[in-house]
Amino acid sequence: MKKWLQKGRFLSLFAMLALLLMGCGDPTLSALVPQGEVADKQFQLMLISISIMILVLVVVFVLYAFVLLKFRKRKGDESTPKQVEGNHMLELLWTVIPILLLIILAVPTVMRTFEFSADAKPASKNELSIKVTGHQYWWEFEYPKEELITSQELVLPADTKVHVELSSADVIHSFWIPSLAGKTDTNPGDKNKNYMWFDTGSKTDVVYKGKCAELCGASHALMDFKVRVVSKEDYKDWVASYKATDGKSSANANGQQVFEKNCLSCHAVGQEGGNTGPSLTGFGDKDRVAGILDHDKENLEKWIKDPQEVKPGNNMPKVNLSDEEIDAVADYLLGLKLK
Ligand code: CUA
Repeated sequence: MKKWLQKGRFLSLFAMLALLLMGCGDPTLSALVPQGEVADKQFQLMLISISIMILVLVVVFVLYAFVLLKFRKRKGDESTPKQVEGNHMLELLWTVIPILLLIILAVPTVMRTFEFSADAKPASKNELSIKVTGHQYWWEFEYPKEELITSQELVLPADTKVHVELSSADVIHSFWIPSLAGKTDTNPGDKNKNYMWFDTGSKTDVVYKGKCAELCGASHALMDFKVRVVSKEDYKDWVASYKATDGKSSANANGQQVFEKNCLSCHAVGQEGGNTGPSLTGFGDKDRVAGILDHDKENLEKWIKDPQEVKPGNNMPKVNLSDEEIDAVADYLLGLKLK
């Protein structure tokens, strides 16, 4: 096969791959589609570093091609080209240029780092602040001012600065909503709290996906959560209805009895129940079971029967319930709608 034809095939394979991989981008899970002030500014930093990298790449390739062509060996020419080892001008150039490039990269990056950390803690009590706690393998979100706790889903008003206090109940996790802000670790212990803030952006009725970005155990990759951004009025309504919802909002009395006896010590519904497992307030309105499975009865029963099969290494014990009891609990939980 002719060489140019071989090269052409290689190139078209790359072009097709690039086209295919472009389809993998998820606009609700991408730092390249930023929403809100923090994500925008972080994206600008990425653009600066990518531009510098492209500039370096182009300059090096052009110089390389130039030297390759200009100083190629010609027929009948046996002479050695002029040697440039120890050329002061060249040495100076390739020392000074990288230093300048690093300064261009470092100044805005360090400035933004200080800017973001200065605003991490709320300046007044009126600002929205959230306490995030990472657990193996789910997220707890406490709204101190609103006096409510959710799990796996963070509901926030649009165009709002959100101050976040981060900690962990067990190992180190990392809180990451790619569309809204870079990642920040959650550390165990009261002394190692981290703080960050992000802006929710102007779009309403959107769901951004969140991820744990620190290897934290067998189900690290399954430790997903969601951020639902709604209008300011809808947010107020949501807070009111979330607080009004309790264990009686589901009509299944039999399932409620089984739930209260076996599950309530770990899972809260409304103001009642423990907090070693995720709160199940309004569970019927969610769209995921255990944060990852489709929200239907079959998956819910599968999860209750054997949590380890769905999320290996999680802390939920295998409960000793009959099939009828599991059926009743599943009906009860799916009926737990927000008021
Ligand atoms: Cu939590 Cu990875």
